[in-house]
Amino acid sequence: MSAPRVAVLTVSDTASADASADRSGPIIRDILSERGYECKYHLIVPDDEAAIRHTVQTWCDQDDVDWVITTGGTGFGVRDRTPEAIRPLIERDASGLVHLLLAASLQYTPLAALSRPVAGTAKNTLIITLPGSVKAVKENLAALLNGGVVDHALDLIR
Ligand code: MTE
Repeated sequence: MSAPRVAVLTVSDTASADASADRSGPIIRDILSERGYECKYHLIVPDDEAAIRHTVQTWCDQDDVDWVITTGGTGFGVRDRTPEAIRPLIERDASGLVHLLLAASLQYTPLAALSRPVAGTAKNTLIITLPGSVKAVKENLAALLNGGVVDHALDLIR
């Protein structure tokens, strides 16, 4: 089967004004490229619900990516709106993936309880929201990739 196609969306007011401030997006691309994924798109948007939803909706409608990953805006900050932006797009919940992310992350820090991840499918695309820090991204991706969890999920939807 061909390499899974991934779209990465960095959600950050800071990085949307200065792309060099985006550290988590490039890390996601690096980790996934090393694992054989094709990182097809990478965009940066501010913490704006409409911009986040529009970008992810467009990728899902295009039907040319298998996995959309967002990074940032999942926390309790007043500007953190990524879960609210993504939730209406989800057709099938993947609450097991949310559980996995939180359970794995809580092994590293109790502050993981402040992340509000959303995971599920829209059409044939898997959508997962990750926190914004590089550390959190590495830890969350390890949970998703080790043991082949996401690989198996993608095999089932594409
Ligand atoms: N998850 C892991 N695995 N490791 C972390 O260091 N940091 C937490 C949490 N999840 C963290 C984590 C913190 S401090 C916050 S505020 C939330 O993710 C939300 O992050 P976000 O608002 O950047 O999305």
